[in-house]
Amino acid sequence: MDILESRVDTNSDQFKRNAEAMEKKVAQMRDELRKAQDDRSPKAYERHVSQGKLPVRERLSQLLDRDSPFLEIGALAAWKMYDERVHGAGVVGGIGIVEGREVMINANDAMIKGGTIYPMGVKKSLRLQEIAMQNRLPCINLIDSGGAYLPLQSEVFPDAQHGGRVFYNQAWMSKMGIPQVTAVMGLCTAGGAYIPAMSDYVVHVKKTGAVFLGGPPLVRAATGEVVTAEELGGAETHCAISGVSDFMAENDTEAIRLIRQIVSRLPASKKFPLPTKPPKAPLYDPKELYGIVPDRLSVPYDCRELIARVVDGSEFLEFKPMYGSTLVCGWAYIHGYPVGILANNGVLFPDSARKGTQFIQLCSRDKVPLVFLQNINGFIIGSKYEKEGITKEGHKMVAAVSVAEVPKITMVVGGSFGAGNYAMCGRAYSPRFLWMWPNAQISVMGGEQAADVLISVKQDQLARSGEELMTPEQVEMIRQATIETSEEESNAYFSTSRMWDDGLVDPARTREVLALSLAAALNADIPDYTGFGVFRM
Ligand code: COA
Repeated sequence: MDILESRVDTNSDQFKRNAEAMEKKVAQMRDELRKAQDDRSPKAYERHVSQGKLPVRERLSQLLDRDSPFLEIGALAAWKMYDERVHGAGVVGGIGIVEGREVMINANDAMIKGGTIYPMGVKKSLRLQEIAMQNRLPCINLIDSGGAYLPLQSEVFPDAQHGGRVFYNQAWMSKMGIPQVTAVMGLCTAGGAYIPAMSDYVVHVKKTGAVFLGGPPLVRAATGEVVTAEELGGAETHCAISGVSDFMAENDTEAIRLIRQIVSRLPASKKFPLPTKPPKAPLYDPKELYGIVPDRLSVPYDCRELIARVVDGSEFLEFKPMYGSTLVCGWAYIHGYPVGILANNGVLFPDSARKGTQFIQLCSRDKVPLVFLQNINGFIIGSKYEKEGITKEGHKMVAAVSVAEVPKITMVVGGSFGAGNYAMCGRAYSPRFLWMWPNAQISVMGGEQAADVLISVKQDQLARSGEELMTPEQVEMIRQATIETSEEESNAYFSTSRMWDDGLVDPARTREVLALSLAAALNADIPDYTGFGVFRM
């Protein structure tokens, strides 16, 4: 395979300026991640540990194999939402290795409002389940939750993608043969009681764990019966009398030990057999990406410089290098896994979209996972290109991305604008994982363009109705307001907070995160190629 040769001058002022700007962004990201992990009220901490419970991260570290990576999902979910302290939406989730098997972990953080479920918590749990289903990963739930966060119950309970969907998915996972192991480590009240009930294996911690449809206060109010939580739904009740739980544990540590034993007995996962190679580090330091990526998204750079710092040995077999040059496509290996890479070098033209479509077809037929390195302003516009059928060519690529059944993994490394987001496998196109660099931006179009569109629509309206056009000052007010809103709503934190992505990634860790995503994806079979739909010719 050809070796990509870097043309970057790592001593240039530009490189140093870019590196400084990216370092700041990465440092800010690390700060936010640290806050999300550690910022808990002393009162909540005290209350939690005084009951003999382990903090959620400690539960995770006891559960995971030593040296297991943890591919955390939605670490900054609900960032600056609610009262700004519902870190990670009150749930810690991600993929790790337990007894040598990749598993999906979903753990409540009871130090955040008693582990209650906020709207973003529901969204996160559903996303974790979706990943588990798409990639056929066994699920481990560590439940310690006061159930629905009642002040926002209308946003967590009634709709199709609300709480009920979690249990619906559990039933489907059971039917699909995806094992689910749940530890009751705190309260599982009302709807929450169904998480253990719908699982294949339930471990129940004595004293702290309880499962009931209605807690003691509700039982007393509804029936007059006075009963303790332990008597109503504790480990003895459910392990010895009701049969809701299968294993009793003295404490969190023993519960985790039991989970590990259960996982060790699950049927071994069959990884899809791709023709892998021994991994090789890239020839260039991935950290150099900090200096390569311009501080402003509008400044172009050659995406091959990025590919050279992500793929094994910086080796890349480029497909059609002389055709459709704004989309770079080609084959490489990442940590030994074969991949087809699509990366942007400018807006998509008809020829680049055609090339992308053909490349996706080839990779789909040959069962090569697709990696999208997304940095896209959109498709080219204008009458020349409409006549050339840019919409028609874009449709082909969007259709191919939609129905390609090989694993698709997207890393947004810059802009994610307009229909370019679709063609480059945005969230709606079901990539198995979608990650974002902290400098990334996502919106239907840039703020300046959105302002221009709104201003021109308004002026046309006024002209039609014979009214006076807006003054330059009024135009400027609309422009500024639109740009400000757009800047706020298109930044990577706004996205990750709402779980439009699976998390923010330090550019220097791109290769590692892609490799972990690929490894997880191969737990599911890659179906045989059955072609695409009808392409408009
Ligand atoms: N909705 C909203 N807030 C809730 C809540 C709920 N369902 N359950 C607990 N909280 C809040 C508490 O108000 C408290 O808030 P604060 O820290 O601002 O004071 C915080 O969560 C911790 O609750 P607290 O009772 O002090 O902690 P705890 O460790 O003693 O007990 C629970 C935690 C979850 C066991 C207990 O609060 C409880 O039983 N909650 C109600 C459970 C329930 O019936 N849910 C039904 C929903 S379907």
